[in-house]
Amino acid sequence: MKVLVTGAAGQVGRDLVDVLSQLSDNDHLVSGAVVARGGEGALAGRNIAVEVIPADRSVLDVTVREGVRRLLGELQPDVVIHAAAWTDVDGCEADPDRAFLVNALGTRNVAEAANDVGAHVCYISTDYVFDGRSQTPYVEWDDPHPLSVYGRSKRGGERELFPGSTTVRTSWVCGVHGKNVVRTVLDAASRGKSMRFVDDQHGCPTFSADLSWMLARLAIERRPGIFHVTNQGATTWFGFARAVLEAAGRDPALVEPISTSQLDPPRPAPRPRYSILDNAALRLSGIPLLADWREPLVRVVGLLGG
Ligand SMILES: NC(=O)c1ccc[n+]([C@@H]2O[C@H](COP(=O)([O-])OP(=O)(O)OC[C@H]3O[C@@H](n4cnc5c(N)ncnc54)[C@H](OP(=O)(O)O)[C@@H]3O)[C@@H](O)[C@H]2O)c1
Repeated sequence: MKVLVTGAAGQVGRDLVDVLSQLSDNDHLVSGAVVARGGEGALAGRNIAVEVIPADRSVLDVTVREGVRRLLGELQPDVVIHAAAWTDVDGCEADPDRAFLVNALGTRNVAEAANDVGAHVCYISTDYVFDGRSQTPYVEWDDPHPLSVYGRSKRGGERELFPGSTTVRTSWVCGVHGKNVVRTVLDAASRGKSMRFVDDQHGCPTFSADLSWMLARLAIERRPGIFHVTNQGATTWFGFARAVLEAAGRDPALVEPISTSQLDPPRPAPRPRYSILDNAALRLSGIPLLADWREPLVRVVGLLGG
């Protein structure tokens, strides 16, 4: 099975390529089942040899329709995991055309080209499709209502998919690659610098290696529909930053809680104040959920040398 990853040089893309490369290793083929790490379950009943095709922006610019069609036509993937996006939330607010070009029209291009070659598409979307006015976790069947241009453009991407595609909505992604809160907090702490984090935005931190195992599974199994996939457990950005410091053996008092209205300067793009995603579709399908976020946090802090 050929699995092409768009945005392969990004934070999630790099972990995805790593996970898929491990699946191509015969050690993971056990009695006809590919066993995912960490008790996340098995890709049961299939004898799969995965060939991963990493496509970063230099190979595949999703905004160039003919280029996307040409590359997928040449490579004939069975599955496309579409991780490419313009993820600068405040940048998107300032340049909506670029946001919709990459995140919405780019996804149309990927969906069309994949359909032409019969490839299954797995698209990564975001908790920012919700407005955060709920007081209970969002299920996959709740109506989206994005507040920001980024959220609208990612919701636009969701609507470009052909029937039968997989949509994975996730939130607050961190990992060993790329810029994220774990790295920011560790860098500041190593310089003894105090920090302020908002304590009135609630969500579920998600670690990209864990997420990647689930993406691989849902994509390879060609599961149709929307899945919320996050690490379990919710917190605020302040709570998360404190936990990073604790996991690194640093002083948690380095971080101070503030409200969103105290951010100076205010951030251009509005964020949902509550974006906890109930992983209902996984849960109700009997698929084991990802671990509590505190487990992978310890692993990632160790890998980042915290
Ligand atoms: N990070 C989060 O907290 C979060 C939360 C929810 C959902 N998501 C979703 O998860 C997915 C992966 O995000 P991430 O954290 O891995 O973001 P990331 O590190 O910014 O990776 C995105 C990748 O897409 C590439 N890209 C940008 N424009 C492109 C284009 N026109 N054609 C092809 N590639 C392009 C970027 O390349 P350049 O660096 O060269 O621009 C980058 O390598 C995205 O769909 C994102 O919306 C992320």
